[in-house]
Amino acid sequence: ARVDKGGHKHFMAKEIAEQPTVLAEAIRSYLTPDGKGIALPGDGIDFTAVDRLTMVACGTASYACLTAKYWFEQYARIPVDVDIASEFRYREPPIPARTTALFVSQSGETADTLAALRYCQRKAERIVSVVNVPESSIARESDLALPIHAGVEVGVASTKAFTCQLVVLLLLALKAASDREEITAEELAAHLADLRALPGVLNAALDRGKDVRKVARKLAEARDVLFLGRGLMYPLALEGALKLKEISYIHAEAYASGELKHGPIALIDKTVPVVVMAPRDALFDKTVSNMQEVMARGGKVVLVTDAEGLRDAGDGVWQQITLPSVAPILTPILYALPAQQLAYHTAIAKGTDVDQPRNLAKSVTVE
Ligand code: G6P
Repeated sequence: ARVDKGGHKHFMAKEIAEQPTVLAEAIRSYLTPDGKGIALPGDGIDFTAVDRLTMVACGTASYACLTAKYWFEQYARIPVDVDIASEFRYREPPIPARTTALFVSQSGETADTLAALRYCQRKAERIVSVVNVPESSIARESDLALPIHAGVEVGVASTKAFTCQLVVLLLLALKAASDREEITAEELAAHLADLRALPGVLNAALDRGKDVRKVARKLAEARDVLFLGRGLMYPLALEGALKLKEISYIHAEAYASGELKHGPIALIDKTVPVVVMAPRDALFDKTVSNMQEVMARGGKVVLVTDAEGLRDAGDGVWQQITLPSVAPILTPILYALPAQQLAYHTAIAKGTDVDQPRNLAKSVTVE
């Protein structure tokens, strides 16, 4: 099918805006008709038979994997290894018994990810992939391929594929938690009800684009930007930094907030904006003290949080982006939007080619 920009200036803008719709479809396609259970295609996955997950991907898809590690370990108590495919394939890691290998790829054709998958054939108990293109090599060579239903993604910087990958991985983690009796049927149904309501919340968040544009005009003047996040927000910080450097060409780095003292704090001065992704969760107080350390050194904090977080952050925040409050388990999907929008509007302010950034390819099919 021919894909057009549907009235948007760029494919990336269209694909950001489409997320509530495609996510709703992805969610619907994995739920039982009553909405209270999870139904996987084919013979599904029985997580009581899985002792370990090895997740492998490149780029944005690898940050979806890193997010999923937090979900699988916290909610389902399954140990998870996450690796980027180019490292994994040449390290030739041992694969313990009862390991499921999980590959995440929008295109399903990334050369390193495909090679990593082939390495796992006959070593891992089972090969599962999470893909956007069901006819792709990675899907065909897997024992089970799970589609993310994002539709065609044209923008080189992945947006809707990332959030759809997160949805499918979250559903897998919840299925694992339920199979292993780490959560009850009622708890599962409650999580799924929250998830079904998420597309509506995303629509509300997208409407707040004005805040983001204002912050982006400031970021466009920076030479370096630091992203910080803790727990589930750490992979999101990595994704925010990746998006920004990919399309605005501003040097951006991400650190786990707790690592601030172990290096990046040396870079802080008034020329380096620090984007802190922090919903008002159990770890928020720790993040506030990290922010104070930044501000004490003249650093400019851009706080991405909810109304409660803004209230508890105290004085001195330079710029803010406020999001609706959602269940803690869903924050990575919601916070992906400002990460994408910040990069998009910063690139627009700088006048770079958003859909076709220099030196980058949509799908890296050669090594
Ligand atoms: C390239 C793209 C990224 C993508 C990565 C992995 O670097 O520019 O947007 O995240 O490849 O691609 P895949 O198709 O395997 O998800």
